[in-house]
Amino acid sequence: MRKPIIAGNWKMNKTVQEACILVDALKKGLSDVRDVEIVVCPPFTALRDVGKAINGTNIHLGAQNVYLEEKGPYTGEISPLMLKDLGCKYVIIGHSERRRYFGEDNELINKKVRKSLSCGLSPILCVGERLEERKAGRQEEVVYDHVVNGLTDLSKEDMMQVVIAYEPVWAIGTGVAATPEDAQEMHKFIRNILSSLHDRDLAEGVRIQYGGSVKPENISDLMAKSEIDGVLVGGASLNADSFVKIVRFKRRG
Ligand code: PGA
Repeated sequence: MRKPIIAGNWKMNKTVQEACILVDALKKGLSDVRDVEIVVCPPFTALRDVGKAINGTNIHLGAQNVYLEEKGPYTGEISPLMLKDLGCKYVIIGHSERRRYFGEDNELINKKVRKSLSCGLSPILCVGERLEERKAGRQEEVVYDHVVNGLTDLSKEDMMQVVIAYEPVWAIGTGVAATPEDAQEMHKFIRNILSSLHDRDLAEGVRIQYGGSVKPENISDLMAKSEIDGVLVGGASLNADSFVKIVRFKRRG
């Protein structure tokens, strides 16, 4: 059984003080949750304080990006060892905003994935097609490319640490989420890719999140799908009330 994983990607939001207020409210609202793995991904500047606040709780720490070297002359970059040092368990890699605004390609993303794993971090690898690609019917081709090339040269042990987030770019921040059926279909497709790269057992163990306009209103329908093992939440994770509601989604059936 795959334990659901629900992560909040705060993106470039929250001062340290605001981050601490938010995480305090999440601690209060979620302290009894045991059946969902909860992750918050604050900006780098708030990682230390948020990490201290959630130390020993059921909320885990994640970062939103990482560099592909452990240390050295890379002005402005943050290494996986530094994230580990702050208590991070997860790191988001290859988010569509990084692909789009910072020119990150699969090769760079794969290097980040591999270095993070070697430093003991679990990558949340984001994959997903843009609107024009979906309109052209190329969504599977694009997702295949992101998955296969993002996960090149990973051992089975490495693969078990990876979380994949399927985030169709047209659904991110738009209020228009993928339908649970469309997400389910793409998650199945991704699981089949993992199966062909490794084997069925391994593929069945990897968690695949959906991301893109997840809200308290659509979480239950998404989570009702057998292939959806959690969600990556942007906008709705910035508000304690809505993130608590998402984590506490009502089970269907
Ligand atoms: P959204 O963002 O929930 O605001 O659509 C999701 C994401 O970018 O991870």
